[in-house]
Amino acid sequence: MYPVALVAIFSIITSVMSTSTSYSFTSILIPLYIYPSPGAWDPLFKIIKNYGQQPFTVIVNPDSGPGTARFPDSNYVAGIIKLKSFRNVRVIGYVHVSYTSRNISEVCDDIDKYADWAAHPTADIRVSGVFVDEAPAEVGNEDGNLNYMSNVHDRVLQSFGAIGQDGFTMTNPGTIADKGFYQFADAVVSFESPLSSYYAPDTLQTSKDLSKSAGTAASLQGIIVTAFDGSEARERYMLHAVVARGIGYVYFTRDPDYQKFGTDLKLLVGEVAKRNGLANTRRE
Ligand SMILES: *[C@@H]1O[C@H](CO)[C@@H](O)[C@H](O)[C@H]1NC(C)=O
Repeated sequence: MYPVALVAIFSIITSVMSTSTSYSFTSILIPLYIYPSPGAWDPLFKIIKNYGQQPFTVIVNPDSGPGTARFPDSNYVAGIIKLKSFRNVRVIGYVHVSYTSRNISEVCDDIDKYADWAAHPTADIRVSGVFVDEAPAEVGNEDGNLNYMSNVHDRVLQSFGAIGQDGFTMTNPGTIADKGFYQFADAVVSFESPLSSYYAPDTLQTSKDLSKSAGTAASLQGIIVTAFDGSEARERYMLHAVVARGIGYVYFTRDPDYQKFGTDLKLLVGEVAKRNGLANTRRE
């Protein structure tokens, strides 16, 4: 009887999760640019496990992209397998477009390479899509930037569609972007900046706030804050504001870049999960 009840509860949790990870809860966005030496990603694994209902979107980045080899090295393979073992995690691969100055055939090669991870002979390291960094915010001359991003998105859908993945595409202009870009992405990072001097919640503007992209849903947008140096109370207050505004993805770190986990990683995840109404599922 006990096992049957457990199975029933488990399937309820699973069905709630499968809808919740796609939207409605604010996801923790982790730019995981740390090399996975054995143990290096453990702080993240631990917190993902502790908040088993909290959605995470994790960007892996072997070498400012997928790297030159066909598959990532064994440390990456081990790390990605572990990440994928958590059902509340979506793993995507880092690609950059240098504000459209990068030759698009190189970008397409990177996208194809991530999709091709699905062909790894011994490990399931397939990723769900890509994080397109240094994305343009303006449509450009004769919509040149917009067309470029349209081509990038087409390639993601094509390459990932071929391996049965949805080709989740998050783009990162890091600032308010023209609403035209939303048709070529599942999510857009509207804010990526160090935050050492501006503490008002209004600082964390998304496209929802500006007329050029009026009506763009906050749930499709992400906010990345680095070098946060306010108080813990201020950080909690701002994270509360992010969730209350329905922003889809958030990362805060006291670190100036992405070379290590911020000392506030637990605070970030704990506060967002709490404001999402998601409990800590495991006591530490
Ligand atoms: C982009 O790269 C492709 C393939 O290497 C090359 O054929 C093409 O000329 C390049 N385009 C530009 C504008 O450099």
